Amino acid sequence: MKIAIVGTGYVGLVTGTCFAEIGVDVICVDTNTEKIESLQKGIIPIYEPGLEDLVLRNSKSGRLTFTTSLADCLNDVEVVFCAVGTPPDEDGSADLSYVLSVARTIGQNMNKYVLVVTKSTVPVGTAKKVRKAIQEELDKRGVSLEFDVASNPEFLKEGNAVADFMSPDRVVVGIESERAEKVMTKLYRPFLLNNMRVIFMDIPSAEMTKYAANAMLATRISFMNDIANLCELVGADVNMVRSGIGSDSRIGRKFLYPGIGYGGSCFPKDVKALIKTAEQNGYPMRVLQAVEEVNENQKGILFEKLGKLFDGKLEGKTIAVWGLAFKPETDDMREAPALVLIEKMKAAGCNIRVYDPIAMEECKRKIGDAVYYAPDLYDAVLDADAVMLLTEWKELRLPSWQVIHKAMNGNIVLDGRNIYDKKEIEEQGFIYHCIGK
Ligand SMILES: NC(=O)c1ccc[n+]([C@@H]2O[C@H](COP(=O)([O-])OP(=O)(O)OC[C@H]3O[C@@H](n4cnc5c(N)ncnc54)[C@H](O)[C@@H]3O)[C@@H](O)[C@H]2O)c1
Repeated sequence: MKIAIVGTGYVGLVTGTCFAEIGVDVICVDTNTEKIESLQKGIIPIYEPGLEDLVLRNSKSGRLTFTTSLADCLNDVEVVFCAVGTPPDEDGSADLSYVLSVARTIGQNMNKYVLVVTKSTVPVGTAKKVRKAIQEELDKRGVSLEFDVASNPEFLKEGNAVADFMSPDRVVVGIESERAEKVMTKLYRPFLLNNMRVIFMDIPSAEMTKYAANAMLATRISFMNDIANLCELVGADVNMVRSGIGSDSRIGRKFLYPGIGYGGSCFPKDVKALIKTAEQNGYPMRVLQAVEEVNENQKGILFEKLGKLFDGKLEGKTIAVWGLAFKPETDDMREAPALVLIEKMKAAGCNIRVYDPIAMEECKRKIGDAVYYAPDLYDAVLDADAVMLLTEWKELRLPSWQVIHKAMNGNIVLDGRNIYDKKEIEEQGFIYHCIGK
């Protein structure tokens, strides 16, 4: 089978590469010429564990190719996956302009049946808009061609994307024709060998499933952050509470970690978009409004703690920041809490020294030379009055506190991810604060 994947970002590149790995012929399409030229030369534009080897191997075998022209490959493929971005519009709703532009290109250039599958996260009703956009272009051309639309939301996690795609908990597919169901079953059959579940449903339900999943996970995070903040006030330890409730099989252990708020390219925008969809339908999503409010507050929580520790006198203080990416194992800094904290500290007159194992270049692209970029975690703490841990990268988990104590000017450690042992750090002469204890 031959397919095209439109949009060669985190989702599109992983999807295309993994389909190629199981034997499908895949053409990855992107309008970003630089990205496509890099990929054609074997340079991978994003950091995602395990991806580079797979891209190189499948490119070499000829099963994975890259192009900037969707029009040129439409006659060769049976399925077109749309994995372009759906960033938030000014009012919080999902911007569908990229998705609909892909649909129009398909309508303008197709000459035979094609199944158009939306993998981007899109609000309920988008498949109808995609169908309409394609049909309008066919009508303009005065041609009558059959096509199907389907929804196949993606649940991969950045940092573990290849493994998630290869062995997902489930695959959700929204379809409205038997033909589309047959094609999607054939495409995902190799994965079924690993006992994976493909859940077929109607398209609106599939579109809603993706938002409901992300909204549920964001809710768990905000709920735990709220509990953590209360734990601090009443003298409880949120880590104990987390173990206590996570061992209840009805609750489970995942996504119960308090911290500095969720970020990334999905949760913030998807929660906003779902609130907006509800609003457009005259229904207020009260729980999600609170989830967002708690999250906004949580992104500033370490700055508040810092202010208290220095009696509000932050001007001229040097702060080391460990970790910039919104989570470990990715270079993605979209909506990263680090950006909010850095902005607040800069506004308060702090000097900032940052270190991240992977996301330094991405940070430079976002904020330029507003901060000092340290070559390693020890250089970051030189003469620092305080050090903040923002992303729990493995290499930051067991630093030498003795070396750090000597290098620092002050002795404050703010642990935004609760990964350090309070007693051990305090014994080394530090003042230690984390979330929810
Ligand atoms: N990143 C994730 O972890 C994740 C997980 C699940 C779902 N999603 C969803 O998947 C979608 C894509 O997310 P992403 O993180 O991969 O985005 P991304 O920004 O990394 O990549 C999107 C790509 O689409 C390209 N593009 C835009 N318009 C195009 C067009 N008309 N033709 C061809 N290419 C075009 C862009 O150049 C870019 O390379 C979004 O809807 C997102 O919400 C993302």
